[in-house]
Amino acid sequence: MSRPAPLTPPRAVLFDAYGTLFDVYSVALLAEQLFPGQGQALSVLWRDKQIEYTRLVTTCNEGAHYQPFWELTRAALVFAIKKLVAHADGASATGLFDEKVEQLMNQYRSLSAFPENRSVLQTLKERCIPTGILSNGDASMLQLAVKSSGLHGLLDHIISVDPVRKYKTAPQAYALGESTLGLPASKILFVSSNAWDSLGATWHGYQTLWVNRYQLPFEELGTQPTRTGTTLRDVFDFFPPSSS
Ligand code: LAC
Repeated sequence: MSRPAPLTPPRAVLFDAYGTLFDVYSVALLAEQLFPGQGQALSVLWRDKQIEYTRLVTTCNEGAHYQPFWELTRAALVFAIKKLVAHADGASATGLFDEKVEQLMNQYRSLSAFPENRSVLQTLKERCIPTGILSNGDASMLQLAVKSSGLHGLLDHIISVDPVRKYKTAPQAYALGESTLGLPASKILFVSSNAWDSLGATWHGYQTLWVNRYQLPFEELGTQPTRTGTTLRDVFDFFPPSSS
């Protein structure tokens, strides 16, 4: 399933945020309460649309339509509700619609974190391996998510792509990891649960761990991540005990 360990252990680790540290599908429970029968589908369409919008604004008209990730997330949610639930009954015109959107957006501010995050980050810290987030999320979203999930103090860098106004998988977005850490991508491990993100980072030159949390196939574009795992704990496969 995985390739052998690279000869040189990485000097730092960057994590994707949404889907990797924070569970984007944890919103399904509240979505189900608000829109019975549609919670699961809504959480999936919301996420897919959010990523689609990042690509649209990054690739069209040289970024002229850029909006911060928080705004794209709200737009994607409104789309998903309209498509799955509200379109037929005209509910999108009511105050109730706005209220439900706000409830779900509030939930998105403090998504559930995956249970192993804390101990993995703690161990990396003890081994003096620099860590950070490299995410499409804007800075305030990321700070809040880190704080509310109790990871504050366990990450050395919280890098948002917002300053370059281009979302992953744009090279300028991935390059922020290198410039912030002062290391070439080949010396950094990039960890993502999103296959497309793992692929983009691999193409950029990072060592990569794809955390395949949902037993999905990898992208079929001819490149594999350096390694594939199932939880964040698999980062330690990149660090033999004597490497730090
Ligand atoms: C992130 C999303 C896209 O960059 O997963 O955090």
